[in-house]
Amino acid sequence: MVDETQLRAAYDAAGQSHVFAFWDRLNADERETLLEQLSRIDPEHVNRIVAKALEADAAARNASNARVEPPPADSIVATPPADSTPYRARGLEAVGNGEVGVLLLAGGQGTRLGSSAPKGCYDIGLPSGKSLFQLQAERIARLQTLAAGGSKPVVPWYIMTSGPTRAATESFFAENNYFGLDKSNVVFFEQGTLPCISNEGKIMLDAPGRVATAPDGNGGLYAALRAPLSRGSDNTVLKDLESRGIKYLHAYGVDNCLVKVGDPVFIGVCIEQKVAAGVKVVRKTDPSEAVGVVALRDGRFGVVEYSEIPEELAQAREASGELQLRAANIANHFYTTEFLARDVPAFESEMAYHVARKKIPTIDENGERFKPNTPNGIKLELFIFDVFPHVDRLAIHEVPRSEEFSPLKNAPGTGTDDPQTSRRDLLAQQRRWLTEAGATVAEGADVELSPLVTYAGEGLEKFAGKSFESTENVTA
Ligand code: UTP
Repeated sequence: MVDETQLRAAYDAAGQSHVFAFWDRLNADERETLLEQLSRIDPEHVNRIVAKALEADAAARNASNARVEPPPADSIVATPPADSTPYRARGLEAVGNGEVGVLLLAGGQGTRLGSSAPKGCYDIGLPSGKSLFQLQAERIARLQTLAAGGSKPVVPWYIMTSGPTRAATESFFAENNYFGLDKSNVVFFEQGTLPCISNEGKIMLDAPGRVATAPDGNGGLYAALRAPLSRGSDNTVLKDLESRGIKYLHAYGVDNCLVKVGDPVFIGVCIEQKVAAGVKVVRKTDPSEAVGVVALRDGRFGVVEYSEIPEELAQAREASGELQLRAANIANHFYTTEFLARDVPAFESEMAYHVARKKIPTIDENGERFKPNTPNGIKLELFIFDVFPHVDRLAIHEVPRSEEFSPLKNAPGTGTDDPQTSRRDLLAQQRRWLTEAGATVAEGADVELSPLVTYAGEGLEKFAGKSFESTENVTA
């Protein structure tokens, strides 16, 4: 039972007593719901993180003061295919030992794509009609097969959802029988939410008996690893990792159809480099491409947004002709479990939330709901890369864009990062793999290879000499 008096005192002390403004109008159920919601928010903590976020936001506006430099050359490991074999072997060994897990960031609302279902359910129009979730699940299954010695290892899949995506994501997996994976190795958890804050620093309401909230960003991952897997559960992702003996994790965004889930090469690179954290990047070649790059900011690793880079530095090139700042971030990370369980909690309170100024639906002084025409408040978000300034060594693994990155961000027909470009890039990759294996694919034939057949182009020798004349979904 939530104690109303105590809650009122806490919100009063924090200068947030207006959350009770419509109390007299609420019926018993509405009061109970509001109290329950308010009891899950610590108003003093909210005040503290808002103050810190606004301070960091103001400092970032003076970012011209920050010293931005390319990352140290020895932190970058580029892998032309010929060099990747030992790394791949090391990564597969770790997978084979049952030491590798994967962490999917699937809490985003995908507003730009505009689909009502979670992004991972999206069908980019492949011959098979597979969703992004299915492609990822089948890559995990194939990875388990590739790493199998005597028995098949398990690569547990931790799926971070949010309030808006959890139920629909879980039912999609259940309806699709977990895409052939063992249900006990697919672990759903949920990132947190934070109240939306008005321009005056007040917790906003979006109904007389309800606080307006928003997911806390993909960096909400770190706190979510310690939270109960579901309400009432005493298990957490960190406990699950520990009980399974998982030492290494690959974390990635849901929307990249080319993602190499649990990539043994990347994992091998990070293990060999003995780092606690690593990041996969693709090479930026056009100085004007609006992408965040991994760089040093005031001597610490970070992702520096395009808008923060002085023009001259954005254009600067190495003697080889490559851009100095070229490590384009693709939401693809490596962590040791030890880093997540021990190091992150030690510096977590130092990470400032980012401020997103938004038009937030709210209520007026009469309790009437309205949608503002101009930004009326802020949403607070952490980014997954906000841990970078806190690591002394970061492995930066550069991979070919055409093989590993084609994100689904925009609505169909936008022309960039949309379902059509995702489909195009995936089918182009499969055509390359088949051609390299000695097959021919007729002009206009869209040949899709099931991830259960090949993870990264391996095992296609059986197609040497074969000619694919028409569109086909190859499943064996
Ligand atoms: P984006 O920043 O591209 O956001 O997420 P989005 O929700 O997919 O799309 P828009 O901006 O609303 O159009 C990058 C990755 O981070 C995850 C997303 O699911 C995606 O995998 N993410 C984002 C979260 O897990 N939680 C969040 O709160 C935000």
